[in-house]
Amino acid sequence: MPHLLYEADQRLWLLSTATTCYAIRLDEHDVVRHVHWGAPLTLDQARVLTERIPSPGSSFDSAGGPEELAVEGGARFGPAGLQVRFANGTRGVEWRFAGHDLEDATLRVHLADRHYPLRLTLHYRLHDDSDVIERWATVENHDDRHPVTVQRCDSASWTLPQRAGYRVSHLVGGWNSEFQLRRADVPVAETVFTSRRGMTSHHANPWLALDDGTAAEEHGEVWSTALAWSGSWRITLHRDPTGRAGWTGGFGHEGLTWTLTPGQSLETPVFAGLYSAGGFGGASRAWHGYVRGHVLSHPDEVRPVLYNSWEATGFDVDEPGQRNLAARAARLGVELFVVDDGWFGGRVSDHSGLGDWTPNPDRFPHGLRPLADEVHRLGMGFGLWVEPEMVNPDSDLYRAHPDWVLHMAHRGRTELRHQLVLNLARPDTAAWAHAWLDRLVTANHIDFLKWDANRSMTEAGWPGHADPDRVWIEQTRAVHRIMDRLRADHPDLRIEACAGGGGRADLAVLTRTDQVWTSDNTDPVDRIGIQHGFGQLFPAQVMGAWVTDSPNVATARRTPLRFRFHVAMAGALGIGGDLATWSEDELKEATGLIATYKRIRPVVQHGAAYRLAGAGTLTAVEFTYRDEVVVLAWCPTRAFGHDPGPLRLTALDPAARYRDRDTGALHSGAVLLHAGLPLALPEGEHASTLVHLTRIED
Ligand code: GLA
Repeated sequence: MPHLLYEADQRLWLLSTATTCYAIRLDEHDVVRHVHWGAPLTLDQARVLTERIPSPGSSFDSAGGPEELAVEGGARFGPAGLQVRFANGTRGVEWRFAGHDLEDATLRVHLADRHYPLRLTLHYRLHDDSDVIERWATVENHDDRHPVTVQRCDSASWTLPQRAGYRVSHLVGGWNSEFQLRRADVPVAETVFTSRRGMTSHHANPWLALDDGTAAEEHGEVWSTALAWSGSWRITLHRDPTGRAGWTGGFGHEGLTWTLTPGQSLETPVFAGLYSAGGFGGASRAWHGYVRGHVLSHPDEVRPVLYNSWEATGFDVDEPGQRNLAARAARLGVELFVVDDGWFGGRVSDHSGLGDWTPNPDRFPHGLRPLADEVHRLGMGFGLWVEPEMVNPDSDLYRAHPDWVLHMAHRGRTELRHQLVLNLARPDTAAWAHAWLDRLVTANHIDFLKWDANRSMTEAGWPGHADPDRVWIEQTRAVHRIMDRLRADHPDLRIEACAGGGGRADLAVLTRTDQVWTSDNTDPVDRIGIQHGFGQLFPAQVMGAWVTDSPNVATARRTPLRFRFHVAMAGALGIGGDLATWSEDELKEATGLIATYKRIRPVVQHGAAYRLAGAGTLTAVEFTYRDEVVVLAWCPTRAFGHDPGPLRLTALDPAARYRDRDTGALHSGAVLLHAGLPLALPEGEHASTLVHLTRIED
């Protein structure tokens, strides 16, 4: 059980999660100082740490040690997590403690400025089955006459204990190359991780992990955080020459300002933090547990095997073609059939039609319902692609409402993929978006929406609005609200989050969606790296992964069907190839592999994931769930023709025996742990295998 203790003498709070501990205190100036984040401590032990007051340094240094939300003001020279300007031009805050609430598993620390009627609350929420600490902040302007300008309001600042070195792990990429894991020494500097795109972004994900340079996959201390926000964000990691490191982060990018009118407040998104003593793998499994337990709405469901024809047909969708594909997909064992872009308005290419959300009468003369009924008759769910935030200028919607898009007076309207962004922060635009989505879902018995967003925000203005930069927050909140309302009204509706692939994958979008379209790049070799990065934070059940055609459309690489399947089977499997061109042999093989996936699916989607590394290019993931173990191993190339040798498994009972479900072979746990599992890899390039073991009772 988590518990929260307050020790009044020292003005110390001790927050204990399932296996870790976090401590903060108030100093003599009522500043909330960081004390500890890591291994469990008793109150007495934490008290000792509060006595270690940092030395004042020189007259050129910041004073007082790390803060829970590093504000601007006084002798503070690091990156500020809270920057405000009062109406008379004064900058910075000076705090007075204004009480705290300890309620269930939430701590709220209230601070008030000593002079101006500005208040700040720091929130900490714990869960009894997780080591994740959810933190956020609220800033309130209690002045009844004057506004306050907020130049930065982070959710939280995080501090590491002092270590000999610091290394950061983070995710970088772009369209078609999301979630590339990078590890680098933290420079003695300020390093900014950010998205200025109005979207979580393909380029950087608001997840970070720090270690002292010695952590490995299954051992070592790792401190990591993830921001629950789907718009622009900024995290500043700093390492001082004195040997301290920490970071501060929240929504919005640099240069935006938000005005709090009298009585207004601003609440930040949650910034979740996790300390793990179990290495990068332990941290990932703890995140996966948290996502399942406290983020996803339907974590216990298995994600269906879906079919999506985007790669096969592009914009050429019509009722006969989709019926044909649906019939083929159903025969393979597909459970959800998704019609992608091209079904509506004048959307025959990416130049036109976005915004006109009625079925294209040439392509679907009787609307979508006959196709939806046919898909249901075939025993599959019916899914549809939508992109509610966007509009092509060549559309009836834009011709009727040119003022509905984000724009600025006397600035151009930059088109990206020939489209503009609708300002959904406007109540009329949001009401329109909700209404057509609701009608569409109801009328066509839609089970699943692929919710896409194919461009970044530019000219994000809101002419006439008193606080125009608000749109960077309100746009994101509006998208979340529409999703929430749709889901509340349609409890069986499931949603896939997509933004040109993995451009919107974060803890906030996963609160109202069920899976993520990981990347438009479906090349299985590239996907191994993408999936490796994605899995640092997110569990396999939310990772959409399709098997598509060979050669791959993005990379022209040729790979065997089995290899493509084995890579995609490490996530929520989908099929995205042109089934009309698959040979009978391929269809037969695919049918078998889909059946195998359904057998291993509970283990992959609900199990604990262990990333394994073999020799050469061999990598693998092991999933364990109850008495079952599934290993998916991939070997893209074999240098010198060498075989990678046995793969050492992990997290098994050395005293137990395990039976291979396919070959019947018996293995001892101790041998698998210490000497490894010999892999029956086919010859040549792009070799892969799947092993499904069950622990047997002797
Ligand atoms: C984005 C998505 C693709 C597909 C296209 C349709 O790029 O990521 O999967 O839906 O849009 O235009």
